[in-house]
Amino acid sequence: TNPTSSIDTNINPDIQSIANRIKNGEATRIVVLTGAGISTGAGIPDFRSPITGLYDRLAPLGLPYPEAIFHINYFSHTPEPFYAIARARHPRNLKPTISHAFLALLAKKGLLHFLFTQNIDGLEQDAGVPSDKVLWAHGNWKSQHCYKCSAHYPDHLMKKAIMSGDVPYCLQSGCDGAVKPDVVFFGQSLPAEFEEKEKEVPDADLMFVLGTSLKVAPCSRLPGLVKGGTPRVLINMEKAGDIGNRGGDVCILGTCDEGVRKLADALGWRDELEGLWADA
Ligand code: APR
Repeated sequence: TNPTSSIDTNINPDIQSIANRIKNGEATRIVVLTGAGISTGAGIPDFRSPITGLYDRLAPLGLPYPEAIFHINYFSHTPEPFYAIARARHPRNLKPTISHAFLALLAKKGLLHFLFTQNIDGLEQDAGVPSDKVLWAHGNWKSQHCYKCSAHYPDHLMKKAIMSGDVPYCLQSGCDGAVKPDVVFFGQSLPAEFEEKEKEVPDADLMFVLGTSLKVAPCSRLPGLVKGGTPRVLINMEKAGDIGNRGGDVCILGTCDEGVRKLADALGWRDELEGLWADA
């Protein structure tokens, strides 16, 4: 294999061994965890990559620390910075990447047990992953409420606010709360469903982790729940978490799009994958 695209450590089984496991039916309950790195190819910057990541570009907003922009306490008194960047994070009419299409292909072949995504862009569903197979651990843009009184806020007014960058305020008389999309901010709890679905992770017979630094709990704990002996495949620009430390782990370092294409080639799924992506 050419040095720039090979697996970073030669002790792990290579991409072909993962493909063989899928082809010979040893992997039929695949659990996937995705993060911002799977959507950078669609035009949405991630958070922690140096320079290009969102957290390196917030200096002009005068935040106490970068992640404050997504903290509920900070939002409750200063919602402006969040709306200053909302447009750049909103999926608007972005096309999913071939990596999102790979997840839809796994689902189409009945191999996707469940997908946990940390992303709020909804591109997995746009690529064709059935919504009953996805848990948006950090919520998504699909609805919005007043952070103070929880009153629902109209979609068309929210769209206007996201595009203009102006903070939308609650329409209920006597309430001055800022409206927040139903995404999980730091300081808020994850959807109750997360705990249930987390219990199913040990049933996985293969885990893919795509485009995440594994820095934020509780999603960062998911790879550790996989039973010993079940391969965990990281497709990421850099090592993340403890993936690579277990015997069966595989680290495919590079972009998600390169990694899923290599996997598709090894599986003999490349044409089907490119076709599915073209239709997304
Ligand atoms: N291909 C593969 N990996 C990529 C790509 C790409 N095209 N682009 C970026 N990456 C990698 C980065 O190297 C990094 O390891 O994806 C990872 C992205 O990490 P983060 O920016 O920390 O994003 P994520 O892990 O999703 O953050 C988790 O933190 O800010 C909160 O709630 C927010 O859901 C987010 C959570």
